[in-house]
Amino acid sequence: MTVSEVTPQSASVMPPKKVHIETWGCQMNAADSERMLAILAEKNYALTHSPDDADLVLLNTCHIREKAKHKVLSRLGILRELKRDRPGMKIAVAGCVAQAEGRRLLKSAPQIDILLGPGKIEELPRLLEEHQVSGQSSIATGFARRHHHDDDQLETGASRVDVPVEVQAPPTLSGKKEVSRYVNIQQGCNNYCTFCVVPFTRGREISRTISDIVSESKALLVSGAREITLLGQNVNSYGSDHGETTRFVDLLREVASLPDLARLRFTTSNPHDFTPALAELFAQEPKLGGYIHLPVQSGSDRILQRMQRKVTAAEYLERVSWLKAARPDIAISTDLIVGFPGETEEDFAATLDLVEKVRFSFSFTFKYSPRNNTPAARYLDQVPEDVKEERLARLNSLQNRISTELNTAEIGASRQVLFLYESQKLPGFYYGRTDHFRLVRVAAERCLTGEIANVQITDANKTALLGNLI
Ligand code: SAH
Ligand code: F3S
Repeated sequence: MTVSEVTPQSASVMPPKKVHIETWGCQMNAADSERMLAILAEKNYALTHSPDDADLVLLNTCHIREKAKHKVLSRLGILRELKRDRPGMKIAVAGCVAQAEGRRLLKSAPQIDILLGPGKIEELPRLLEEHQVSGQSSIATGFARRHHHDDDQLETGASRVDVPVEVQAPPTLSGKKEVSRYVNIQQGCNNYCTFCVVPFTRGREISRTISDIVSESKALLVSGAREITLLGQNVNSYGSDHGETTRFVDLLREVASLPDLARLRFTTSNPHDFTPALAELFAQEPKLGGYIHLPVQSGSDRILQRMQRKVTAAEYLERVSWLKAARPDIAISTDLIVGFPGETEEDFAATLDLVEKVRFSFSFTFKYSPRNNTPAARYLDQVPEDVKEERLARLNSLQNRISTELNTAEIGASRQVLFLYESQKLPGFYYGRTDHFRLVRVAAERCLTGEIANVQITDANKTALLGNLI
């Protein structure tokens, strides 16, 4: 959907203003950026792909690790120069840096006109107006209050839930039709892992209702999506703030029953709240495919306990065995942190051991980064940077070997691929994902985007597969 389709009436009255959006960090931020674009489109803003001609530059920021925060600060420096030449250009900072730093950020970067936390997205138009009138920086941080919902909204049963006319698919950030879209199902996190800033930047868990999620999913399918990824920090505990009646598995069943949906993914699934019922759904619901992201963080029980992850390595492996019982070929990816305070060589060896045991299809690997206000940042036994670097390199080299082996084992197989986009660098080549979420590149004479097709895998490396249409 294009922005002009979202604002037919306003577009005819005045030429739209231009907004340029830059997004860092997780999928949740990508979904929030789409939401902000939708809100701005209603106020007659259209997307522009460069800050050079933008009336508003919106940075949707990430605070998860120190490096992510630094990127934002250096970007703000460049925008300050741009604003010097074009004083009418407004700068808005949204996302987790805005929430965590608040007014402190305004002190070091007074070029910011609007500052809004992830819990205050809906207030963006009010902040723009307020700034327009006062000429001062406008700020909204803090968290949304818990929604009130009546019983009817909590009903499951897709047949009862029709798309209200007003539900529109959020516009895409690329300005093009997208095959794979995100739907936010839950804000915040109640877990307080000792390294993590998310509960402070995104607040406590608040689940959306099943009917809201199904309505948004339907609207996305109408706009051409074929794959939906349900997003939350801890999707397994979805609905626990709604009482006993709503469960993540029920939500998955509802969304999976939408006829136009080809694939349903979700992230992030925390092993702590992972249930046998969720594992069994992989045997029952083909749209879930053969893939799950299940962050483990470490293979050492001592470190997992200090992280307050609430599951041991053995309990993690038990969850993997439930998944394998339901779907023996399941591909599992994970998140891993090296150099958490107090991590010894023995602890790190336990992480390597776990990676060997599970044989993850891929891993997001991170050096531990101390975050303000989190308990682990105050631990006295911080690991030196060079040790973290060295462990990260060893972990990556093990994971790369495993990913290459697993991908190479795909050569010769025939796989159903959902095609997502045409390569920008190599027109005529299409990228898609297999049922097991492996990236595949295929050459084709016709446009494959949005199609599911059978592909014979011909080659592989650690990140992707090559194949031919069958
Ligand atoms: N909700 C997710 C995690 C969200 S943050 C879960 O349940 O696991 C995404 C990933 O960033 C985490 O899984 C972790 O591996 C990494 N991460 C978070 N805080 C970090 C820190 N302080 N240093 C290094 N990596 C971190
Ligand atoms: Fe962070 Fe742990 Fe929640 S990693 S997002 S506090 S589950």
